[in-house]
Amino acid sequence: MKIAPSILSADFTCLGEEIRKVEDAGADWLHVDIMDGHFVPNLTIGPFVVEAVRKAARVPLDVHLMISDPDKYAPEFIKAGANWVSVHPDTCPDPAKTLQRIRGLGAKASIAVNPDVPLEKVEPLLDHVDMILMMTVFPGFAGQAFIADVLPKIEQARKLVAARKLPVLIEADGGIKADNVDIVTKAGAEVIVSGSGIFKTPDYAVTIKKMRSAVGE
Ligand code: DX5
Ligand code: ZN
Repeated sequence: MKIAPSILSADFTCLGEEIRKVEDAGADWLHVDIMDGHFVPNLTIGPFVVEAVRKAARVPLDVHLMISDPDKYAPEFIKAGANWVSVHPDTCPDPAKTLQRIRGLGAKASIAVNPDVPLEKVEPLLDHVDMILMMTVFPGFAGQAFIADVLPKIEQARKLVAARKLPVLIEADGGIKADNVDIVTKAGAEVIVSGSGIFKTPDYAVTIKKMRSAVGE
């Protein structure tokens, strides 16, 4: 299991220190939530801050674009240091083209699947992605409750990728903490995003260790 703490729940008054602490605690990636106040009703950060995060971080940056025009901005985030870029299919007129462009710019491409979107919608895109981001909350805010109804869809995604022998990772994002991470990995997710589940706990190393032992690592 790869653990990708979402820095949206970190203390931004000392972001560099938070990044160092969570990396020392065993984070594999950093998940970076980009919101534009248009595709989702919340605003976060832009490429300028991602560039600073890149300077402070050692691990790969997993940039989750919840924005209306990823075709326009994805290149800027890649330039700023994004290693993985996730886009939501409804935000691009031609998602295959967007994903190919992300790969062409040297980043790994990922397609996000909201809780109410059937997997069939992204199935035709699987040849163009390195990862499927299964949303276990509706995007927009950190700290929301995990939607367990998504679990069968994670299983379905895992089976689909296995049946087609695709080198595609499955990531789950939203409401995941040490006490429910096991059901998410059992369903087939191998990259786990956790924001408040890590940054709102007193000791990140203890929490990450708890998460790993909950899944038998
Ligand atoms: C939701 C974001 C998530 C969120 C995760 O819109 O995409 O990445 O920050 O935070 P928690 O783990 O607190 O739900
Ligand atoms: Zn996210």
